[in-house]
Amino acid sequence: MNTKLLHAENIPEAAALIRAGEPVGMPTETVYGLACDAGNPEAVRKVFAAKGRPADNPLIVHIADIADWAPLVTEIPPLAQKLAERFWPGPLTIILPRSERVPAITAGGLDSVGIRFPAHPLAQALIKESGVPIAAPSGNRSGSPSPTTAAHMLADMDGRIPAIVEGGSCICGVESTVIALDNAETVRVLRPGFVTPEQLKTVARRVIVDDAVLAKVREGTVVRSPGMKYRHYAPKARVTLVQGSQADFLRYMETHTGTGVLALVFDADVPACEADGIPCKAYGDSDEARAAAFFASLREADAAGVQHLYVRAPRTDGVGLAVYNRLIRAAGYDIVHAETE
Ligand code: TXA
Ligand code: MG
Repeated sequence: MNTKLLHAENIPEAAALIRAGEPVGMPTETVYGLACDAGNPEAVRKVFAAKGRPADNPLIVHIADIADWAPLVTEIPPLAQKLAERFWPGPLTIILPRSERVPAITAGGLDSVGIRFPAHPLAQALIKESGVPIAAPSGNRSGSPSPTTAAHMLADMDGRIPAIVEGGSCICGVESTVIALDNAETVRVLRPGFVTPEQLKTVARRVIVDDAVLAKVREGTVVRSPGMKYRHYAPKARVTLVQGSQADFLRYMETHTGTGVLALVFDADVPACEADGIPCKAYGDSDEARAAAFFASLREADAAGVQHLYVRAPRTDGVGLAVYNRLIRAAGYDIVHAETE
């Protein structure tokens, strides 16, 4: 099968594929997704197969009108409604008990479903034109960095799916914030994203960041969000996350540079690394810009033949939390504390 690149004017063709039960690459403001008819188990099976994704990892269901989530869930608590009104369309996924309209396979066998109303105009157009809710995991092969351009998605999916809708570079660059409601006043962040805990706090009385966000999930633990337990987002290069100040990082790198080694750092670190002869690369001059470039930076390191990537740990407030969460998984929890090395 040749994977076709489609454009805005081909949305009717992409929607026809969706209605025919085929998976199609879809741009969103976060990352590219692998879209299919959420209510068609056969189509959903094709998405799991194309990604090589474990069957117990649920898909998010995407809508293009806030009125469309009611039939997909058994109830919408007032807090969920308030969050949807404040953050949709946008990078927030809200988990609620699923109705029978969502097949078990779409939900990875769980009783719940995550719903998201994306902001990207082509995602909205594809969902509307298809006329069905659209299930879409990130468009990478399972375990690889998420695609933030159509070219990244094509690199993973060429020959596995009929088409990808080309929609430019994703502006957020990290996947949506996934939340569940613990009770009428409490939001639990299962996966951090572009909507930050600080922003959620403007709507919910309490916001809890789940333990699995910042730590390794122990073997055998039951997790609220199955995606948390897999090694994930990983480039081919080995990734080591280095905790510590710029001075600690430089000292550490002096004994760890060599052929095939690259330091991924913040803008402010670049002159210091260069002065010390440490090959380095920086992306973006704000937390948001760094998040937008994050997955691309991992793919670029692979393309450049980097074998070992050392990343100075980002801050864990604001959008930095999302980048940190992806990094510890990309690193397979290889985290060193440079101040004590
Ligand atoms: O930004 C995004 O969310 C992108 C774009 C395409 O919308 N999608 C995405 O999907 O990142 P995926 O499948 O790669 O990640 C979804 C995450 C997984 O970690 C999954 O375990 C979790 O959300 N998830 C989905 N439904 C869930 C549910 N019902 N309960 C708990 N976790 C859920
Ligand atoms: Mg994913």
